[in-house]
Amino acid sequence: MPNVFRARLALFASVLCLLAGGAAACDPSDGRDARPGASGAGPAPGRVDLLAGDWSHVPGGTVGPGGVRVHGLGRQIVLQDGTGGQPHPPVNLRGPRLMVRGDFQVGATVHRAAGQTASLYLYGEVPIVYDEWLQNRRGLRVSVSERELSLAVWDGGSAAPVEDRTASVTSPATVTVTVERHGGDLVLSAGDTRVSVPDPGVFDAGSVTFGVDAVPGAPDWTLAALEATARDDGGVAVRDTPMAGQSAKPSDSLRALAEATGRRLSIGAAMAAEPLVSDDGYRALAATQFSMLTTENALKPQFVHPMPDTYDFTEGDLLADFAAANHMQVHAHTLVFGEANPPWMRQTALADRERVMTDHVKTVAGHYRGRVAAWDVVNEPLSPDDDGPDGAPGLREHLWQEAMGESYIDKAFTAARAADPEAKLYLNEFGAEADGPRWDALYDLVVRLKERGVPIDGVGFQSHIHEAGDHIDPEVLRSHIADLAELGLSARISEIDVYGESPRVQADQFAGVLGACLSEPACTSFSTWGITDRYGSTAEHDSYPLEPGDELPWDQRLHPKPAVAALRDTLRAAR
Ligand code: XIL
Repeated sequence: MPNVFRARLALFASVLCLLAGGAAACDPSDGRDARPGASGAGPAPGRVDLLAGDWSHVPGGTVGPGGVRVHGLGRQIVLQDGTGGQPHPPVNLRGPRLMVRGDFQVGATVHRAAGQTASLYLYGEVPIVYDEWLQNRRGLRVSVSERELSLAVWDGGSAAPVEDRTASVTSPATVTVTVERHGGDLVLSAGDTRVSVPDPGVFDAGSVTFGVDAVPGAPDWTLAALEATARDDGGVAVRDTPMAGQSAKPSDSLRALAEATGRRLSIGAAMAAEPLVSDDGYRALAATQFSMLTTENALKPQFVHPMPDTYDFTEGDLLADFAAANHMQVHAHTLVFGEANPPWMRQTALADRERVMTDHVKTVAGHYRGRVAAWDVVNEPLSPDDDGPDGAPGLREHLWQEAMGESYIDKAFTAARAADPEAKLYLNEFGAEADGPRWDALYDLVVRLKERGVPIDGVGFQSHIHEAGDHIDPEVLRSHIADLAELGLSARISEIDVYGESPRVQADQFAGVLGACLSEPACTSFSTWGITDRYGSTAEHDSYPLEPGDELPWDQRLHPKPAVAALRDTLRAAR
């Protein structure tokens, strides 16, 4: 990892402290649990109780009198087409953050029934997660089963752990395992068994975020105690995760400038839970610049509905709570899509698919009823190819279309309306900004939906500009928005990003598309697909550290590119 990145994380840790409690509370060496409301008479000096923090939002976790019960969700991240699969262990993103300096020890007491393997993760850096992959940065995993104790260590330099050690043990049902950073080593112990490996600097950034996991189908295990102790000249303290609102919105922020136009136009960006809780700079931009957020990947079916009877709303709830704290609207993405579906959903028998789809829509849209302004009910219904009659794209072939034909769209919208009558319901598509068969096919589809009385409120133009020369002509886009307005529909720019262009051309494209939206009253929001290249969706995630793309308005150092000034100027000109 480049030093500059490490330094940035170290800075983040100290800023996090300052935000949370003031300089005095930030010094881990004061040896007290500085979190207000810490339990009981207070931990002994140099020792903190990590279970006293928030464990109610960890996926698969339930807080009870005996501790945190951990149920295996078997979360996997699959590729867009449903193949592949990479473990996606739950992180307690909203939970306690342990601030560390020098040597320290974490002790975990685990109650475990036969057949279960209990895993505890200590992350020095929260993993970066998208919907097709996960990049582990610095962290370690401790696992304990009847016969084995294991320690895996990631150093941020590769997908595989740099250390992966196991030791034979005979574990009782209740066991206390300890992980120590001690004299340049990481040491795991349980009873008389010790596993020691060199520490590649896993916690150099100064904080630890926790995660827990279990084997699905095996009996739940319970994290009965979790404590940290300072050793030698080290220090430990606990901070709650910063989720609060940021009240000051600078007058030249995109959202303030949009408000000043007097139009009801939301300015949004797709946002993700991990960087919101772990990256101060990202969170500050999110909270100050935008009046709407799109739930980037968190509500895609594979995340929210990992198994037939299991829903997991923890990350979507985090995004919705962050939006509420910052007076932002939520544009929820997406209920029905041919991609990002969990393997079990794709394997559903044809005859059961309608029930599975409508149950999914009902449950997910019902959960967010009253908390989201709008839903992408159906995402990308058109085939990517011109494979329909007259050389225009037909419907995209996928599990829902295969079972119900075009009527899956009607059924999805009807179920969404019933589940959340106030939310605006959108159909979202790419490549329909220009004239041609793709736009014609989309227009014809929404005409048919309107004729059949389907409760659709609007259409999203994704506006991904990813191929060289693949530019959007603002005047053509404006005329498409006007055509939809004549059908009584709203429109929105839902996912704009501009890849592989010079900063000047990129700025012109962002500004031109915003201008088209501003000139049509039916255009309700302008949203980018991400905020910063630091977490853009075109990143080369096979490279360690991540090799970022260049498609977003803020660069990877979070500095504004010319696109930001161009967006501001366009909003100012619309006053
Ligand atoms: C993208 C995600 O941002 C990536 O992380 C993922 O690897 C691929 O999908 N249109 C959509 C979004 O509606 O859901 C897609 O999201 C981008 C294209």
